[in-house]
Order: sequence, then C-alpha cells, then structure tokens
Amino acid sequence: SFLKDDNVVWHPHAVTRADREKQHGHRGAVLWFTGLSGSGKSTVAGALEQALYAQGISTYLLDGDNVRHGLCRDLGFTDDDRRENIRRVGEVAKLMVDAGQVVLTAFISPHRAERDMVRNLLEEGQFIEVFVDTPLAICEARDPKGLYKKARAGELKNFTGIDSEYQPPEVPDVHLNGEQLVTHLVPQLLDVMRRRAIIN
Ligand code: PPS
Repeated sequence: SFLKDDNVVWHPHAVTRADREKQHGHRGAVLWFTGLSGSGKSTVAGALEQALYAQGISTYLLDGDNVRHGLCRDLGFTDDDRRENIRRVGEVAKLMVDAGQVVLTAFISPHRAERDMVRNLLEEGQFIEVFVDTPLAICEARDPKGLYKKARAGELKNFTGIDSEYQPPEVPDVHLNGEQLVTHLVPQLLDVMRRRAIIN
C-alpha cells in the first residue's frame, strides 16, 4: 500500500502469534492448575499433557518442583517468595502462549491476588484457572513426599494448609474433584478446551 510519509520505513512484521497458532493448528493458552500440595495438580496436568500430545498439540508443562530447581531456585516459601515465583512463572507462561503453545502449570499458587495477576497478564480467554479440589485430609493422607508429616511435627514452616494459607478460587474456570481418577478428569479438561476453541 502507499504511505503518506515517505520517511516511514517498512519494517517487516515478525511472525505473529496468530501465524504460529495457524501453523500449530490450535490456539495458545494457559491451563493454570491450583490446589494444595498433594492435591494431584502435577498428576492431572501430566495426564492431560499426554492426551494433548497424542493429538498433536504443542504443549509445555511447568511445575513447581522443576521450576524451583532452576528459574526460581533462589525462592523459598514466604508469601513474598511465592508471589515472585508465580510472577516469574506467569511471565514465562505468557511468552509461551505468544509462541502458540498450550501451557500447563502446576503450582500451589495459594493466593487469589497472584492468580489474578497472571490472568491479567494474558488476553481474554487465554487463562483457564483449574482448581484441583482435594480436601486437606486426603492430601495429608496421601503425603507423597512426607512433607505434611514434617509440617505437623513443626520441622517444616509455612507449609500450605498447615501454617500457611490456601485461598481456594471463588469462580474457577474448571472445578475438578481431586478425589476422582485422572482418567475421569482428563476428558473434562479436553471438553473445556474444545468448548473454548483452544483445540478442535
Ligand atoms: S507456590 O506456593 O505456588 O509458590 O508453591 P510451588 O512452587 O507450587 O511449590 C510447591 C511444592 O514445594 C514443596 N514444598 C512446599 N509446599 C508448600 N509449602 C511449603 N512450605 C513447601 N516446602 C516445600 C511441595 O513438595 C510442593 O509440591 P506439590 O507438588 O504442590 O505437592
């Protein structure tokens, strides 16, 4: 097209998210799993990722145990550190969504304010909050890492659900019953993703 001002230099457009989404055949989005330690966040997100992978969807799973070995290795579990943890993960997730990926995140993310901060980083419809709702008593009985036991014994401070608050989502986009089998939960998530036109 013709320009009014000859001094405006043509700058080739970078490949856009829309281009990448077209190439991938699905949209970029974040499924943000939140729940207590031992609620099943990583297990459900992992099973969902397998199902998506089998359908040719480009996914990436970010989870607390892994990210805290690298990107967030300098952070602990004070409220400030958890906030910074979630902020960094939110920014990484945003970049990955721009890359056209389906990002699955599994962090306790105990505070509503931080989850809302991540929602606000993203565009409308790109952030899907998934509440893995498992009663504390069940998480504590599972205690896969023996951390509840340590927390009850006072050997581990600021443990979520024991001496650090967990604020459940008030209106999650998806509310999962964490006592159900993953084989039952994954189809519910795929359904939501289809309804929201993230995948076909
Ligand atoms: S947060 O709150 O979102 O920043 O936490 P996250 O990055 O998801 O890390 C949670 C995992 O760290 C282990 N862990 C603790 N959790 C909660 N409170 C304390 N004090 C704590 N210390 C260590 C625990 O294994 C969590 O793993 P998951 O997979 O959630 O059980």
